[in-house]
Amino acid sequence: MPDAYTHGHHESVLRSHRWRTAENSAGYVLPWLRPGMSVLDVGSGPGTITADFADLVAPGRVVGVDASADVVAQAAAEHVGAAGREGLSFEVADAYRLPFRDGEFDVVHAHQVLQHVERPVDMLRELGRVAGAEGLVAARDVDYEGVIWYPRIPALDDWLALYLRTHRSVAGEPAAGRRLKAWAREAGLGDIRSTASLWLFENDDDRAWWGGMWADRVLQSAFAEEARAIGADDARLQRISDGWREWAAAGDGWLLMPHGEILARGRGPAESPRGES
Ligand SMILES: C[S@@+](CC[C@H](N)C(=O)[O-])C[C@H]1O[C@@H](n2cnc3c(N)ncnc32)[C@H](O)[C@@H]1O
Repeated sequence: MPDAYTHGHHESVLRSHRWRTAENSAGYVLPWLRPGMSVLDVGSGPGTITADFADLVAPGRVVGVDASADVVAQAAAEHVGAAGREGLSFEVADAYRLPFRDGEFDVVHAHQVLQHVERPVDMLRELGRVAGAEGLVAARDVDYEGVIWYPRIPALDDWLALYLRTHRSVAGEPAAGRRLKAWAREAGLGDIRSTASLWLFENDDDRAWWGGMWADRVLQSAFAEEARAIGADDARLQRISDGWREWAAAGDGWLLMPHGEILARGRGPAESPRGES
């Protein structure tokens, strides 16, 4: 079974995932994409980044896979059928056991997924297998221990402490960004390039969106249930939600999220015999 996914797919969660584009979330991969390439997006969620990849490599082949059947169906309905993208498809699959041949894709990408799995090194090995020695593995994850913001709002300090504990109580590592390079080395990937990039939320629209999304998420999503399971009561969650609304309303509000990124070569047949999946 795939690992539990901390945030679930509540509307407040999808609201944040839908904002993501290849440009704002996968800039380090873009110079490597060419028309006609094949790209696998693992843990593709609502598929906005995946759909951008499909436009960038058309007439190539892009496949998005996710463990959640619901989110796969939504992504397919939104980005394939109505949008008429011929080379794009979405399917349900587990990142630890991808239903593809060794070296089947030119680029194998995962955005904000390794932080949520229990065995990130095993997942990277599997991404490396389907990329093959000639293909590229690309992964990007936030590092929650590095998130900084202004103004100082005590409820947001509490949010971060609760977030880190909750995430680790479910599965995964919220400070994944700084570990990607180590995980890629342990997975035996080759020619590893390690970079970093930021998300900054500071203008009125971004604050309303990001702060409003977290104000809802701490009360209603799977994250709220997991936080309650480790002892957060309703009053504490309400204080944190109010803190996010206060931050969103603050004209001086500013929040920075650092991300680690790796680009690496996959794994050749010697390390991963053909036919293994
Ligand atoms: C934070 S979301 C990222 C979605 C998308 N990559 C994006 O950035 O918009 C993580 C996604 O990984 C999926 N996921 C988690 N564990 C998985 C696994 N073992 N196999 C496949 N998908 C998985 C979740 O269902 C979720 O949709």
